Amino acid sequence: MYDYHCTTVKPGRLFGLGVGPGDPELITVKALRRLRESQVIAYYAGPHKHGNALTSVESWLRDDQQRLALIYPVTGRPPPPPFDYEATMRAFYDACAERVAEQLGAGRDVAALCEGDPLFYGSFMYLHDRLAERFETEVVPGVCSVVASASVLQTPLVYRDQTFLVLAGTLPEAELERLLAETQAAAIMKLGSNFEKVRRVLLRLGLAERARYVERATMADEQIRALAEVDPARVPYFSMILVPGERWRGESISDAD
Ligand SMILES: C[S@@+](CC[C@H](N)C(=O)[O-])C[C@H]1O[C@@H](n2cnc3c(N)ncnc32)[C@H](O)[C@@H]1O
Repeated sequence: MYDYHCTTVKPGRLFGLGVGPGDPELITVKALRRLRESQVIAYYAGPHKHGNALTSVESWLRDDQQRLALIYPVTGRPPPPPFDYEATMRAFYDACAERVAEQLGAGRDVAALCEGDPLFYGSFMYLHDRLAERFETEVVPGVCSVVASASVLQTPLVYRDQTFLVLAGTLPEAELERLLAETQAAAIMKLGSNFEKVRRVLLRLGLAERARYVERATMADEQIRALAEVDPARVPYFSMILVPGERWRGESISDAD
């Protein structure tokens, strides 16, 4: 483990920056300021990929800012046992944290980029878990993909006292059905190869008509579709289904508004 106490250099600061859902203009003023102050830009990406978070801030970066690529060892559906996915990812995040710690220990501020918001299913959390007690850390919130998707759909998500549930499409089918039956509005994230399973559940619950599919919201290649029009074989990870709450038509629904 990198021992920054052995040096006399003042350690750098770790910034967990929410960079928004894809559109470079959907970064906050504060995240942009921290981004430009940082000597090192750490970002996650798949093998041979650029990474969505880096892509969305690239136009704001200077050449003298060092890029620190954290390349996932596995993306998509994990290989079957005996491959130990959890242990592999734990070791990967440990190694990422040490690479970032080395930079911080050398006195450099590190901006760790995260799509959407860093603390909402964000990959920054794994760095935060490992480094926030060792180094000065600041988290700057970002526009999360759920609200960005509602905006591109131009659909109100929840009215009045409606409940809103966020689910991962990776959950078992029966669990998805049980949870969705109890809510009035929902976002189902992490679709990819789980799309068909989620669509079946929504059809059974009579929610498929109201639901909308959004792919790569706010990015140049954004797609919006009714569920019936989606080809399950072409659903990427950067997509979600929103089930907006039913429109409020002016009736009294509770004592408290
Ligand atoms: C690991 S989570 C990251 C969430 C992110 N931290 C946030 O605040 O939105 C990844 C999931 O977010 C959703 N997602 C992220 N960006 C998206 C976008 N631009 N359009 C649609 N869904 C997106 C997808 O459901 C994807 O599977």
